[in-house]
Amino acid sequence: MAQAIPDHLHRILDLARWAPSGDNTQPWRFEVLGDEHVRVHGLDTRDHVVYDLDGHASQLAVGALLETLAIAATGERRQARIRRIPDTPDDHLLIDVEFDPAAGGADPLIDVIEKRVVQRRPMSTRPLTQAQRQALENALPAGFRVRWFEPLAERWRVARLLFDNAKIRLTIPEAFEVHRSVIEWGARFSADRIPDQAVGVDPLTARLMRWAMADWRRIARLNRWALGDLPPRIQLDLLPGLACAAHFTLLAPAALRTVDDYLDAGRAMQRFWLTAASQGLYVQPEMTPVIFSRYHRERRHFTQTAAAAAKVEDLNRRLAAMLAGESVDRLFFMGRAGDGPPPRARSVRRPLEQLLVSGRSDS
Ligand SMILES: Cc1cc2nc3c(=O)[nH]c(=O)nc-3n(C[C@H](O)[C@H](O)[C@H](O)COP(=O)(O)O)c2cc1C
Repeated sequence: MAQAIPDHLHRILDLARWAPSGDNTQPWRFEVLGDEHVRVHGLDTRDHVVYDLDGHASQLAVGALLETLAIAATGERRQARIRRIPDTPDDHLLIDVEFDPAAGGADPLIDVIEKRVVQRRPMSTRPLTQAQRQALENALPAGFRVRWFEPLAERWRVARLLFDNAKIRLTIPEAFEVHRSVIEWGARFSADRIPDQAVGVDPLTARLMRWAMADWRRIARLNRWALGDLPPRIQLDLLPGLACAAHFTLLAPAALRTVDDYLDAGRAMQRFWLTAASQGLYVQPEMTPVIFSRYHRERRHFTQTAAAAAKVEDLNRRLAAMLAGESVDRLFFMGRAGDGPPPRARSVRRPLEQLLVSGRSDS
């Protein structure tokens, strides 16, 4: 779609689109309303993605986008004023962003907006330094808290939780449909999905997955007769779960209930993640236990597989025990962090032109 955008807005939006989103869905569109005015359309995938419970994962991503917009604006000597338009549908949020002139320099995090990247492969186990931990804790807005799981015994505990959680992820048909649609096969980069080379399995397992994922019956048979879920669970969950400096959980000031709670949490998540990048650290989100746990706590149906539904009860109990007294209702993000070589493959982004809309259209 052809649309003349002032250069400064083009630069801000072009940087902001590097915000992270679940499965690289980029659930945002930009409507340019003036030289200093953009309306962000915040969409979600709850109707077909089991992980996007009530659109919360997308709302976290839209929050990350807003934070990235605000940081990008400082590079243009502008301050972003962000206001969500009330009473719009939850699955089509409208957020007005107006830019005011601002003195002062650019936010230093601007330099890592594009460099920040998820690392799904094993990381170094070198512990975080005191300075890194402090920088990450300071990155969070008032009231937000991080909890670390660093010693080997604690990493082992989280790795086992992820390993067991992956049994659910890899054996329910509802997740199969999602995985099938978000992986781009034979790719090192992907503009709108996750390239298979960034998933974190070895080439042989990737080939097996590609073959099996062509048809749910193949997966079901492999899982039943050949322990087909074991190689990916070991490679994607158990080993990386040990091979990192630390796991962490991010907790909001209070139980998350509203769309705005999730947008604020997404902003905090992105400041944390960008700060990690500025400290030379990689992060991988570990969100599916957080999501399955919420399904359980809210007694929501999410799968036709009875065994999996039963497993989430145990998962939720273990997650709650890990938080040692802090309410799971405050938990919105979980991940691992560490240093090491950069990933060779990554998700890139849709070109800005594809993200521009006029009026209320979504495409
Ligand atoms: C809310 C949210 C949830 C995510 N959950 C996971 C996850 O559970 N596992 C994972 O490996 N990556 C997860 N990601 C990372 C995205 O897949 C990743 O950010 C996206 O593909 C873009 O890639 P990039 O971050 O490398 O630029 C999540 C990201 C966000 C924002």
